[in-house]
Amino acid sequence: TAALRVALAGLGTVGGGVIRVLQQNRELITRRAGRPIEIVAVSARDRSKDRGVDISGFEWVDDTSALAACDADVVVELVGGADGPALALARATLAAGKGFVTANKAMLAHHGLELANAAEGAKVPLKFEAAVAGGIPVIKGLREGAAANAIDRVYGILNGTCNFILSKMEAEGRDFADVLAEAQALGYAESDPSFDIDGVDAAHKLSILSSVAFGMKPAFGDVAVSGIRDVIAADIAEAAALGYRVRLVGVAEAGASGLFQRVHAHLVPTHHPLAHVTGSTNAVVVDGNYVGRLLFQGAGAGDGPTASAVVADLIDIARGEFGPAYAMPVASLAEASPAPTGER
Ligand code: HSE
Repeated sequence: TAALRVALAGLGTVGGGVIRVLQQNRELITRRAGRPIEIVAVSARDRSKDRGVDISGFEWVDDTSALAACDADVVVELVGGADGPALALARATLAAGKGFVTANKAMLAHHGLELANAAEGAKVPLKFEAAVAGGIPVIKGLREGAAANAIDRVYGILNGTCNFILSKMEAEGRDFADVLAEAQALGYAESDPSFDIDGVDAAHKLSILSSVAFGMKPAFGDVAVSGIRDVIAADIAEAAALGYRVRLVGVAEAGASGLFQRVHAHLVPTHHPLAHVTGSTNAVVVDGNYVGRLLFQGAGAGDGPTASAVVADLIDIARGEFGPAYAMPVASLAEASPAPTGER
């Protein structure tokens, strides 16, 4: 069978990871996908940078958005940023009738509906497993595993940088500013780390989870957001004395007045599974009306886990398994809830 031809935009940590996963697991991926998955073209800022992977066999494309026109079936976007080159590439790819796979949570949180509409109109896949909680297959879990359920609530730890900082503060009694630099050095932080510590990154991911779980139009502006800048070591010690741990948690739940979405530092009782999620790990809890409670946990960032999610999307596409981006057709997506008031 003909190979699935892939063009790859962005050769940072995750892009390099995608190349490695496809090379190293080539045989089993080909067997599972039913056909080979081949990268044919790549684009990134700097061609000569050493990434530890050989890119000499791929066509090099200087202008990222020109990847949409190359001879590929699918474009993978790992450039990042809500707008700019990533969005231009997404629009051009879908307009050209090619599939689009992305890890770009900011772009989907702001432009997801437009892109889902374009994908649906062109009858091509738009897939984004890697955009939420890195390697954890929570989008597939919701779209496929829990597809028979009405979802009451989705919540979890969606930002590894914040969880790393909070668990370090907790274990070592140190203050926020002290631990931040360490978190950044780990390479999980966004290029603008205020996106992590102010809860914006978690809110991007939450709005995408909500769209899949509740059939809502993804709307970042509907999430009430605060971060962990003001948490001090003494808060954490006091919480511990009362039987709680401090975690940045994103919550989306269906209520009488619509969908309520919020991200802020929560006091999590020590008997709750989220209290035991430490370091840069992510965890997502899904409450479905027939399946009951599901807990997904794993690496929410990093090259291997994130690349694993990107390649899983490519395997779905190679098999011909894909449906509407948000688990239901765009026309049946509900309006998002009114702007957050912080009250419920
Ligand atoms: N900055 C993100 C985090 C990376 O810390 O979780 C993964 O989306």
